[in-house]
Amino acid sequence: MTESVKIIIAIDGYSSTGKSTLAKKLANKLGYVYVDTGAMYRVIALYAMENNLIDGEIIDEASLVESLEEMDIKFIFNSNLGFSEIYMNGRNVENEIRRIDVSNKVSKVAAISAVRKKMVVEQHRMGQNKGIVMDGRDIGTVVFPKAELKIFMTASADIRAGRRFDEMIAKGDNITFDSVLENVNTRDHLDTTRKDSPLIKANDAIEINSDNLNVQETFDLVYKKAKERIKRFA
Ligand code: DC
Repeated sequence: MTESVKIIIAIDGYSSTGKSTLAKKLANKLGYVYVDTGAMYRVIALYAMENNLIDGEIIDEASLVESLEEMDIKFIFNSNLGFSEIYMNGRNVENEIRRIDVSNKVSKVAAISAVRKKMVVEQHRMGQNKGIVMDGRDIGTVVFPKAELKIFMTASADIRAGRRFDEMIAKGDNITFDSVLENVNTRDHLDTTRKDSPLIKANDAIEINSDNLNVQETFDLVYKKAKERIKRFA
């Protein structure tokens, strides 16, 4: 790509719809920065778990929000992998935050308004120079409502759980399909029904259902849209 105009690409949607795979590929191809905002909420969930701020379903919100002040969350580009990894207070937690126990807690942590407020400030800062592909749940609706391109990803729960299950098995995780499906369904419910910034399609987002599309097909479709938008805003 030689275009000098940089845009903001917001990719929102349900969990395990392939948002981050798509966003990473797109950012690489366009020479843009990729930001996985779900990873930011996962880091906070991991912190809460490691510091005993979650007991079953109960979160010690006041202490967690206070701890945000001392939590340093950073993305550092890994040139071997070709994408950024997330660090919590200097520790690479990219793999740990994907564990199923973290996945089971993260939606509750992400529903806390003070947590979201702080993350959105960071996300604005990361996108201030545009040239960014950001994936999450509220990027096109709340974080960058004026993003030049908005994508909303969907797929059936069974297909999403199947893909996530295959990935986890390939990584050596000891997991059952049913537990992954349950996590997908529970998170869908929590993410779409929470009060603050629920998962919802922005009016001007392009919806893509990936049930019958592979990674390359999804990428080709969105890359074409991105090129059109870059030309339009040039
Ligand atoms: O994309 P993910 O599955 O890694 O996201 C983890 C959780 O974080 C997800 O259940 C909802 C929450 N999330 C959010 O509330 N807002 C975002 N912008 C990104 C993720």
